[in-house]
Amino acid sequence: MQIMKNSTSDSIRSENSNWWQDAVFYQIYPRSFYDSNGDGIGDLQGIKEKIPYLKDLGIDAVWLNPVYPSPNNDYGYDISNYQDINPEYGTFEDFTELLDAFHAQGMKLIMDLVVNHTSTEHDWFQNSRRNPDGPYGDFYIWHDGIDSGAEPPNNWNSFFGGSAWKYDPLRGQYYLHLFDEHQADLNWANPKVREEVYRIMNWWFSHGIDGFRMDVINMISKDTSFPNDTRELDDLAVKGTPYFINGPELHNYLKEMRAKVLSASTKFAVGECPGAEFEDVLALSGMDGEELDAVFQMDLMEIDHGSGGKWDIRSWTAAEFLSRLSRWQQGLEGRAWPANFFSNHDQPRALSRLADDNEYHFESSSLLAVILLSLTGTPFIYYGEEIGMPNADFRSISDYRDVDTLNFFALERTRGREEDELLRIIRYMSRDNARSPMQWNGSKYGGFSSTEPWIPMGRRYAEINVEKDLSSQRSVYREYRKLISFRKKTAALGYGDFEPVESDHAQLIAFMKRHRQGDYLVCANLSTRDAQSRLSFLAAFLPGAVGTELEYSNYKRTTLQDQELKKGILNLRPYEACILKITKS
Ligand code: GLC
Ligand code: CA
Repeated sequence: MQIMKNSTSDSIRSENSNWWQDAVFYQIYPRSFYDSNGDGIGDLQGIKEKIPYLKDLGIDAVWLNPVYPSPNNDYGYDISNYQDINPEYGTFEDFTELLDAFHAQGMKLIMDLVVNHTSTEHDWFQNSRRNPDGPYGDFYIWHDGIDSGAEPPNNWNSFFGGSAWKYDPLRGQYYLHLFDEHQADLNWANPKVREEVYRIMNWWFSHGIDGFRMDVINMISKDTSFPNDTRELDDLAVKGTPYFINGPELHNYLKEMRAKVLSASTKFAVGECPGAEFEDVLALSGMDGEELDAVFQMDLMEIDHGSGGKWDIRSWTAAEFLSRLSRWQQGLEGRAWPANFFSNHDQPRALSRLADDNEYHFESSSLLAVILLSLTGTPFIYYGEEIGMPNADFRSISDYRDVDTLNFFALERTRGREEDELLRIIRYMSRDNARSPMQWNGSKYGGFSSTEPWIPMGRRYAEINVEKDLSSQRSVYREYRKLISFRKKTAALGYGDFEPVESDHAQLIAFMKRHRQGDYLVCANLSTRDAQSRLSFLAAFLPGAVGTELEYSNYKRTTLQDQELKKGILNLRPYEACILKITKS
């Protein structure tokens, strides 16, 4: 599908835009959203019950993390059957009921498509290992080891630690797994694999879903000479990425998928593309519409990753934050449609990571909403973000469920690192920080379930939950609702041209969104101290700009501050975020 020209100053919002360009998405991690039948596991009926909550917030579309049958080594990202529902979450009838219920509200639903790999319990894999000459023999990436099989075929690593190869004694060969050893990579070089994937996608479309979020889709093509990675790398870094991220056939495969599945439809295809560079995103989701509709790239959310990757935490500055934001907002302008997010099931909670989840909880939560909802592109709100859910912050390693976290802990322990140090890192960076149950109220299991949940409640659920938030004077949910509705009537936010201003301020970020229907300035103080911006720069950016009008602030503004603003001085209190309309002569 062609993506409409989105961001020159005279583009017209909504006329001719695709539905996902106007939509505000909400991502649900089904296992942790709402448990309707008291087994401690979130489920599809539970989601259905909460549709009014989402509708009221102003949500247009939902992305569901995988709900297919899975042995849960990676909680659904290891699929054992693509055409059914995990009984833990309900039946296929529950699924169609849920889909109908969304559609009845005028909402859309997109599913997760995990086709870089399957679970090793998938029939295809079991057939493949048992019968190398059979129809599934070539469905996975099998290779002989070196040194008469004693060593894996090359030095590539799994993203979850250790070698990316696992020896299978039955077949007598190694198979590739870029993720957990129970997630075997499919062999996309085999046209039969691709046909199966397209068939499955069409099958889901025939059941009425509105699109797919495509898991690590930029890794489906591998360099089939499987060379060693000879770069000098940090111990924690993943070896082999140049040979499987953005591999030689990637664009051909996606063009084929577009032709065979996605063309001439109004389905939405957003690809998750870790490690994607700017040029890659243009090639994958450029306006020619030949491959994907949008891409999730990780650049901004890797701002605190050091040279060793996610477990190697580094500090960052406001200036760097704005520069990363600008790079993509400006770079993609008029060329590709962005997909924006601060949190998801793979990231710790942005609130705890980028702002202050404690003293300035309300301000920080609403500040993130201001920035996310002011960006050009489709915003994805992650469940709980709308009430300022902070990191789960578990204290004991036994509270964690995530294979990536547990592998990191075990591996680094064998390398001799202290338990305390590892737990400190995990408490900040583990994916489980963002997978704890939705905090509906302050009762024993947070209103999520009537029984002990599959993963503990976040530590602060009694203090931060939907019930409390909605009854508070300063409700984060109501700020989100207000900002979503403001975004929907303000073309500059979702569609405008982005221009960074104040690009080397130590505390705050400021950017303009320009559109022929009106120009706006967004300012956010990312620090715990007051910060000042002199709006004198406005004249330079916008000839004819005479002043600003405050449209939104997450603080109550005083008359004195209004007067200062008239003089071009904007004083922002800790984590204050404002949207100002620029007035012209
Ligand atoms: C993606 C998913 C992540 C999963 C991995 C392997 O990055 O978002 O949750 O573990 O792929 O499927
Ligand atoms: Ca349940």
